[in-house]
Amino acid sequence: MPDDSRVALIETRDLRRSFDGDRVQALRGINITIGEGESVAVAGPSGCGKSTFLQMLGALDEPTAGDVLFRGQSLREIRDHSLFRAHTIGFIFQSFHLLPTLSALENVQMPMVEMAWSPKKRRARAVELLDAVGLGERGSHLPRELSGGERQRVAIARSLANGPKLLLADEPTGNLDSTNAAQIIDLLLQIHREQRMTIIIVTHDLAIAGRTDRIVRMLDGQIVTEPASS
Ligand SMILES: Nc1ncnc2c1ncn2[C@@H]1O[C@H](COP(=O)(O)OP(=O)(O)O)[C@@H](O)[C@H]1O
Ligand SMILES: [Mg+2]
Repeated sequence: MPDDSRVALIETRDLRRSFDGDRVQALRGINITIGEGESVAVAGPSGCGKSTFLQMLGALDEPTAGDVLFRGQSLREIRDHSLFRAHTIGFIFQSFHLLPTLSALENVQMPMVEMAWSPKKRRARAVELLDAVGLGERGSHLPRELSGGERQRVAIARSLANGPKLLLADEPTGNLDSTNAAQIIDLLLQIHREQRMTIIIVTHDLAIAGRTDRIVRMLDGQIVTEPASS
């Protein structure tokens, strides 16, 4: 067990991921324990393995060696990764990944297809989520009719649709100006405080990183320093 007073939500053991045989070693033995309800920033230069690391944690990709444990269970033992993601993980990406032909309200409902909810319940939940991110009036708009900051708010609402235990955000402010970036981080941290899910935010911005419980620094596929969480 981790010597953290909190229960471990996710833990990696000598996690490795290589590409092109072993020519590109994106992750070279990551050992980390992240507690239930913790907020963590992952920082490090471009190419150091941050996105690869996040994809491993979210079961979007599989390790070359080592293991990821979710509440003590190896992801290798989970047969249906897409079902696991649908019920457990929320993803937020730098480029939003909204479907261009769907309205904001429809985009938010996308992850709900895995839930056995009526169309009415899905819609009501999506309205509630858009309200929560300050876009209650914009439900019928297409992504191209929204600003970058608004698109990321829609993506955040979508990431919350399934009530995730773990929210993974890969440079969520990378495409935003500083004002919008600050607002998006405020929103993410507010949601984290209210809902107490675990959140991991990849960012280059040390001002953002300083606002989470803990900063994990990566370099060349490894964790450099990991100051104890407060
Ligand atoms: N699918 C892939 N095929 C080959 N190399 C990859 C692939 N994904 C990532 N890489 C390489 O792995 C390293 C880490 O990439 P990435 O995790 O995207 O870093 P970061 O998100 O920190 O910029 C880089 O050298 C990148 O080129
Ligand atoms: Mg990346």
